[in-house]
Amino acid sequence: MIHEMVWTILIMSIIMIVLFGRLFMKNKKDIEGTGLLALLMRISGQYNKSQIIQLTKKNNDVIKMLLKDSSVINKGVGMEYLLAMPGWTPVINSESVDGNVHKLLKKLIISITKSININNNSFDMIFKKNLKQLLSKNEMKFDSHVCTKVIIASFFQILFEESIFDLKHNNYLNDLFQFVEFMRKCIIAKGYNNINYKKECITKGMNIIRNNTKMNDIINKFEQENQHLFVDNDMLKESIIFSAIFQPFIISPGINFSDIYGPMFKRIYDDNKIINEIIQNVNNNKIKYINGLLFETLRLYHPFPLIERDIEKNIYNNNKITFKKNTHIFIPIGSYFNKNNSTEKELEFNPNNWMDSKNEINKKYKWMTFMIGQRRCIGDRIAIKVNQIILKSLFKKFNSKENVKKYIIPFEGNTISGRLNDENNPFIFLIIRLAKMLWKGIKYRFGYKTFNL
Ligand code: HEM
Repeated sequence: MIHEMVWTILIMSIIMIVLFGRLFMKNKKDIEGTGLLALLMRISGQYNKSQIIQLTKKNNDVIKMLLKDSSVINKGVGMEYLLAMPGWTPVINSESVDGNVHKLLKKLIISITKSININNNSFDMIFKKNLKQLLSKNEMKFDSHVCTKVIIASFFQILFEESIFDLKHNNYLNDLFQFVEFMRKCIIAKGYNNINYKKECITKGMNIIRNNTKMNDIINKFEQENQHLFVDNDMLKESIIFSAIFQPFIISPGINFSDIYGPMFKRIYDDNKIINEIIQNVNNNKIKYINGLLFETLRLYHPFPLIERDIEKNIYNNNKITFKKNTHIFIPIGSYFNKNNSTEKELEFNPNNWMDSKNEINKKYKWMTFMIGQRRCIGDRIAIKVNQIILKSLFKKFNSKENVKKYIIPFEGNTISGRLNDENNPFIFLIIRLAKMLWKGIKYRFGYKTFNL
């Protein structure tokens, strides 16, 4: 009862703040973003920046120009910092940090990426074999859990050159799955941030890394090159090593793929002609079309709710200042398209948009699939390849409308999607969700230090 009263008061307060905040912000010249997120940014401590700007779809061309600018590199202190980073801690998400920690992580991730050959036949085989094995254990149903496990098991095998199903790994797949699902809850502030449990998982992961010849070679080289930065800072070194391997290759894709396939398949079900079109294109090995399925889902249902950047130098367009220095921008790409700001054509789910590079949608919105500029995704080629293997295998196996609907159900079991634009989610639920996230984010933030070099 008390619990419910506290929530009601909190939610009512947020609604009041939003309503008054909108009025208040309209009169303030220095704040251009008047949406709910801009307001939360204000409340959440972005006072040090003179401007907070929320950029939406109508600023599309400006956003592209801005992200491509070579001076735009930092994410700054914003929603990601306040909400997601405490959820990740002590894992460091390369997407959320700036400065030397980011440079180091990126360097190590790039060396690992270089050791992976996506064109090698064995890359395909690993995903296909694991998919087959996990489907057979789940009555052939490709639900959210199978999706996440295929990703975890296959990346594990690619990184460590050992199957996670080897007896010596002692059911490690289930442990990792539990850890990924736990991280998913923490990141979107839907779970209790049990730091001791995370530390146990990290210790186990570090043992696997240290006992693996391939990973050890890459890490030893990295340690030697950066020794001077880690003097008396073993904890940071261990965090960076664990994070560079488990965050981009296991945890994030484990979460993202099922968050992407959920809405993708809901849209496919809604459209009677599309399943036949997909089966036909898969049978004809039309890779561009399969990529189109992924890009179209990222355009309409991006799993990243929000993209942020700090503007540290004035940015000019046609000799006029477009963005003043000392500005924090955020772009809610997870809900970039909606009924109020988009045409019917833009809301249509059509993988054919991506078959031709001159197509209007392709030209305008390709940037938002894996971003552009200095902080763009460095695993896009890997992600695109993995998507091709999984979708091709699934549609070849379930080669009719009935079988697709019966067996490919990636939204089942995914109760904790990080996306904020789930269909049928009324605005009030979005506010409650953000209020809960903000509250938990603030609580977590007091508990943990972030990493600095
Ligand atoms: C479908 C799966 C994936 C999606 C949708 C995705 C999407 C993205 C996006 C949109 C960003 C940019 C965020 C921003 O601009 O603020 C990003 C960053 C990043 N991605 Fe991916 N990604 C995926 C898979 C991967 C994989 C498999 C890797 C493995 C190497 C990876 C590594 C990274 C890294 C390291 C960054 C941070 C780059 C930086 O901040 O400098 N991603 N990803």
